[in-house]
Amino acid sequence: MKIIVTGGAGFIGGNFVHHMVKKYPEDEILNLDLLTYAGNLETLKPIEDRPNYRFVRGDIADREFVFALFEKEKPDMVVNFAAESHVDRSITDPEVFVRTNVMGTTTLLDACRTYGISRYHQVSTDEVYGDLPLDRPDLFFTEETPLHTSSPYSSSKASADLFVLAYHRTYGLPVTVSRCSNNYGPYHFPEKLIPLMISRALADEPLPVYGDGANVRDWLHVSDHCEAIDLILHKGRVGEIYNIGGHNERTNLEVVKTILRALDKPESLIRFVKDRPGHDRRYAIDPTKIETELGWKPKYNFDTGIRQTIDWYLNNEDWWKHIISGEYTGYFEKMYGERLA
Ligand code: NAD
Ligand code: TYD
Repeated sequence: MKIIVTGGAGFIGGNFVHHMVKKYPEDEILNLDLLTYAGNLETLKPIEDRPNYRFVRGDIADREFVFALFEKEKPDMVVNFAAESHVDRSITDPEVFVRTNVMGTTTLLDACRTYGISRYHQVSTDEVYGDLPLDRPDLFFTEETPLHTSSPYSSSKASADLFVLAYHRTYGLPVTVSRCSNNYGPYHFPEKLIPLMISRALADEPLPVYGDGANVRDWLHVSDHCEAIDLILHKGRVGEIYNIGGHNERTNLEVVKTILRALDKPESLIRFVKDRPGHDRRYAIDPTKIETELGWKPKYNFDTGIRQTIDWYLNNEDWWKHIISGEYTGYFEKMYGERLA
């Protein structure tokens, strides 16, 4: 089996490439990534010499390139992680989200339709469902929850999902879609909440919490997400959507305080800053379908997963310090310079 994994130099795609290369030595894993600011080949160092792994640099929205690659490689499966993934960046610059997340997806779908494929899997997000009110803890996202997006990021992901499902219905393309809650774990780019707070707390720098910090996210360890996608690829029903989440809801403030306690740092580092425009209040997944149909169960809960993740950041300082010393520093000033003043 030859599997193209797009976005394999990013956070979740990188973890998925590690998982697949080690678990399926007989499969060929081709990592297709443009290496934007979020792509980092250092993530693949531990597996880059494995005989069943290759890297190709390229843009999923570049039709000529994608078609030439499919012509040459004739992949059996495509798992599409490649995306612009940061909500705050989508608010500053929405257009690249349309290009990569929507047009990149339709380009891959067209290549799959042209060259034939046994499975196209779209890695989507629970953010396509919009948000839930904080005062209704009884409500959860199911696969039937209507799409109701808030940010340019989530709108681009919802749009991509609709194209994927349309290609199944119209052209009979064998697709699956997964919608996962917030991930955390090793190789998470330090612009996102958890790695940002760990790296800044270690440097005794102020920790920017948006608004009142009461927004709730449903945290899933990235390795549980990778296992779920593996299961969907091998046992999931074509044309179906699977929600992925492990009932680990925490407010942002709880997450930040947990990190501070684990690192023995004071809460006085917390700074409440201007809220994100359109900030979703609560995400919460109902994972009944993937649990009952495919037998998926997460291995980590938030308390064990966050401890493992913090240890990973403590033991892999080189990985994230290389990022912070690069382009990211300029980005951080641009996003937070005024808010922290
Ligand atoms: P990430 O930003 O860490 O990685 C994205 C990767 O895609 C990078 O390596 C980047 O170089 C690559 N890329 C970007 N544009 C490209 C293009 N035009 N062509 C080829 N490669 C390109 O993102 P992530 O957090 O690992 O998310 C991966 C996927 O999972 C995304 O589709 C995202 O929407 C989805 N998702 C993320 C989360 C989360 O909590 N991070 C949760 C649910 C779903
Ligand atoms: P993020 O990691 O950007 O993921 P998403 O917006 O896709 O859920 O943010 C997680 C939560 O943390 C979200 O409610 C916004 C909040 N947040 C902060 O309070 N401060 C920060 O510096 C960042 C990056 C996020």
